[in-house]
Amino acid sequence: MSSAGPSGLQAVPRALRDRESWLEPFDWYRRMREEAPVRYDADRQTWDVFLYEDVKRVLNDDETFSADPREADDFVEPEEPGEGLILDTMLFKDPPRHDELRGVVDEWFQPRRLRDREPHFRDLAGELLDDAVGAEGRMDVVGDLASPFPVTVIAELLGVPPSDRDRFKTWSDALVAAASDDEGAEAYADRQRQTQMEMAQYFLEMIESRREEPRDDLLSVIVTAESEGGGRLSREEALGMCILLLVAGNITTTNLVANAVRCFADADADLLDELRADDRALERAVEEVLRYRSPVQAMSRVAAEPVTMRGETIEAGDRVIAWIGSANRDDCQFASAETFRPDRSPNQHLGFGHGTHYCLGAPLARLEAKVGLSELLDRVERLRLTDEPLQPTRSSFVYGVESLPIRYDER
Ligand code: HEM
Repeated sequence: MSSAGPSGLQAVPRALRDRESWLEPFDWYRRMREEAPVRYDADRQTWDVFLYEDVKRVLNDDETFSADPREADDFVEPEEPGEGLILDTMLFKDPPRHDELRGVVDEWFQPRRLRDREPHFRDLAGELLDDAVGAEGRMDVVGDLASPFPVTVIAELLGVPPSDRDRFKTWSDALVAAASDDEGAEAYADRQRQTQMEMAQYFLEMIESRREEPRDDLLSVIVTAESEGGGRLSREEALGMCILLLVAGNITTTNLVANAVRCFADADADLLDELRADDRALERAVEEVLRYRSPVQAMSRVAAEPVTMRGETIEAGDRVIAWIGSANRDDCQFASAETFRPDRSPNQHLGFGHGTHYCLGAPLARLEAKVGLSELLDRVERLRLTDEPLQPTRSSFVYGVESLPIRYDER
């Protein structure tokens, strides 16, 4: 496995390696957009792209920019089968295989299909909040709501026991984590490998049990696709898909909810009343959080052919990082881009990516955020952040905080 890890994103740019910079990377992005909008970072051996138009192109033009890390010059094939399961998923495949893999589960993430589950999702969020909101007027938005809620939801959709959610969270955190400062590339790669092997073992058992007894869940859909004649999915692809679906929507959605509360706490007092009263206003505000504090700040590609951007020539086999978090603050695209405007419209943010790999779980994430936030706002008044220093999520591409203590008046 390359030391850059499967996503190629593990190395954080030097300028963002301290706590404050990764909590607020936006000044640095602005400087890069002005001074070096397409630049090669010799330290991380990767290209960085910062402008809205360029980020959109890198994410969308899959003939020039491949999503497959195996295309990178510095890629090293995993030694053991099973170590690189995540590489066999739609996230890291180009068309046509990408489309075939996505087609297996696409239907399950359609908004109309999810809508029926909204009342149940409300109950889940409500139960978590009823346990957390109390007379002392303090809670941790991440630990009490934003973290357990999406893990429970995706476990239910997949059909794995929600009671295993602590394990799922440990695995999800490990797979998106950046290498720690005192950890070598080898140790980091070992940890990633170990996590994938544990998950593969877990899902192998689940797949076997589902084969004997199919149910109305995503695991059964995946098992059926694996056992169909012609093999729509290989065993590795089936395992990889389980791992991807479990991991992709956890920390991302956690941070959408937490980042929203960060934005709302800073905004005018009247805003909370408006968001409580009007679902559409809440949906628009969630879109603005996706732009202003994007839970995914960056995505990786590999140049499939030489390409010139802003006068720089990127060679085939070079890694390219598309800085979504910077594109979403580009004032060529957004008026007053550095201001949080909860009623912004139109809002063509790239928070869920763009084109072929546009987030499969976007309808689910949007629904979870709306439900989680509206259940929270129904229970609390005048929420504000405490003075406790925030710790950024330990990842080089997922953006948010490890915990978010707030104070509030109970309603
Ligand atoms: C892809 C963001 C929630 C599953 C993506 C991409 C982004 C993204 C930026 C594009 C990746 C690329 O271009 O390489 C987010 C954010 C979320 C979120 C910000 C929450 C706020 C979810 C959820 C799921 C999910 C809940 C469902 C389990 C996926 C999958 C892909 C993907 C499977 C790959 C799609 C493909 O390759 O065609 N997501 N995501 N995501 N996301 Fe999400």
